[in-house]
Order: sequence, then structure tokens, then C-alpha cells
Amino acid sequence: LLRCDLSLRLAVQLYRAGPVGLLHADRQLLTGASEAAMMMLHIPDVLTSEEAADLRARLLAAPWVDGNATSGAGAAQAKRNRQLPEDGEAARAAQQVVSSALTESATFLSAALPHTIFPPLFNRYGVGETFGLHVDNAVRYHAATGARIRTDLSATLFLTPPEEYDGGELIVEDNSGMQSHKYPAGSLLLYPSTTLHRVAEVTRGERVSCFMWLQSLVADNAAREMLFDLDQSVQTLSADRGATDAEVLKLTQLYHNLVRRWAQS
Ligand code: NI
Repeated sequence: LLRCDLSLRLAVQLYRAGPVGLLHADRQLLTGASEAAMMMLHIPDVLTSEEAADLRARLLAAPWVDGNATSGAGAAQAKRNRQLPEDGEAARAAQQVVSSALTESATFLSAALPHTIFPPLFNRYGVGETFGLHVDNAVRYHAATGARIRTDLSATLFLTPPEEYDGGELIVEDNSGMQSHKYPAGSLLLYPSTTLHRVAEVTRGERVSCFMWLQSLVADNAAREMLFDLDQSVQTLSADRGATDAEVLKLTQLYHNLVRRWAQS
């Protein structure tokens, strides 16, 4: 129901409300006795496999540096990978590709309700490379733009087909334990930045991916997840009954009024 306009680099503004078609997405919702719901959302086809292959080829042709360029002090000890220099030509071009793909993903926008997206970064893990268990820094500062964000959500966009490498799973801890994630090229995993997570060691081939952090309009994971649920149902009802159906309108009103209550702009 909320459409966001992701500008090229960072700023995200709401510009209109209107029906957006929600795409298929696999969702793992795990609710613990004492903790709020914690959603991991796999969003397929953010890029087509061809777009992912093209992006990967262009990335691999560029110069790479040690991955600890963006690490916090704790993470640096656990990280062994390489990263594209964030202000290089290749990274900027790739950021445009990813930003526009995110803008077009109704599922991503509905689930993340992005306020500000830290410019996407790109990394690669060859054989023997890994990123040990860590939590992402709560605040990220982008030197080039001076933007500072609170990291509510983390996302990994997989760029290498899973059959081309062994290991390299993204392993995220949720309320029921460690969950392993490995998806087709072009798929995105969205997960709360509050989680402990790691990247398993690659034992064959190479894993290239894009990762990013974002500040959501709705900081609270549980509130954001309820909005996502409501949005999904309204979209389904709207497709059946039409957007001007009286009950659809009431639920749309409810959705927007909950966003008004919970969003921090
Ligand atoms: Ni991380």
C-alpha cells in the first residue's frame, strides 16, 4: 500500500499511496514466548538470473579490497572476504542497478518500509573465506554523504547461482536456533539487524553477493511485521473486490493510520 521512491543513493521518500501487487515471498515467522516475532523474508527475483549474472560479471571485472573496510572492531576479527571499494566506479554503477530493482519490488517495500538505505555494498568469498558470528553495528555512518542510519534491517542479495559454490550459506539466528539461507542468484533475504549471523566458509567456487542495511520507517520489528501482514491481506482482498470496495477502503484506512502512528520520518 505504500509506495516508496528510492533515490539513487540514500534518501527514501514516500510519494504516493496506492495499491501495489504483492509478489510471492517465503516467510519464516517465529514467535518466541518472550520475544517479539522475528521475520526472515526471502524475496525471489529481485533481479532476474540474467541481470544477476550480468551484474556479477561486471563486479568481478573491477578491483577488490580486503573486506574489513566496513567492519566494526569486533567483526574485523571474524571476517575473511573481499569487498568492492564502496566509492569506486563499479560499486556506484552496481548500486544503481540494485537500488532500482529494490524500488520495483513491492514485497521489499511492503516488508521493509524503508526510510533510508545505506548504499549497497558488494562482497565475495572464495574458498576458505568466511564471516564469523557477529551482530551488525547499530548505527552506520556514510562518510561520503554524511548520512547516519540506525540499522533496523539487513539484506543480502545473492548473485551467484547456488550450484556454483559449496558452503557460503548465510546463517541467521532466530528464536528457534540457527537458520541456514542460500538462494538463487537474484534472490534477497531480509532479516532483522538485531540478529546474530554469519557466513559459512566457502569450500568450493566463489560466492558473490550484495548486502545492505536500512533504517525502516517503523523501527519496531513486531509492528512492521503486522503492517506487512495487513498489507498482504488488503492486497489480496483488493484484487478480489476492487480497491474501492467499502471494506477494502476501511482496511486501507486502518493500514495508513497504523503507519501514521508507528512511522518515524
Ligand atoms: Ni553482518
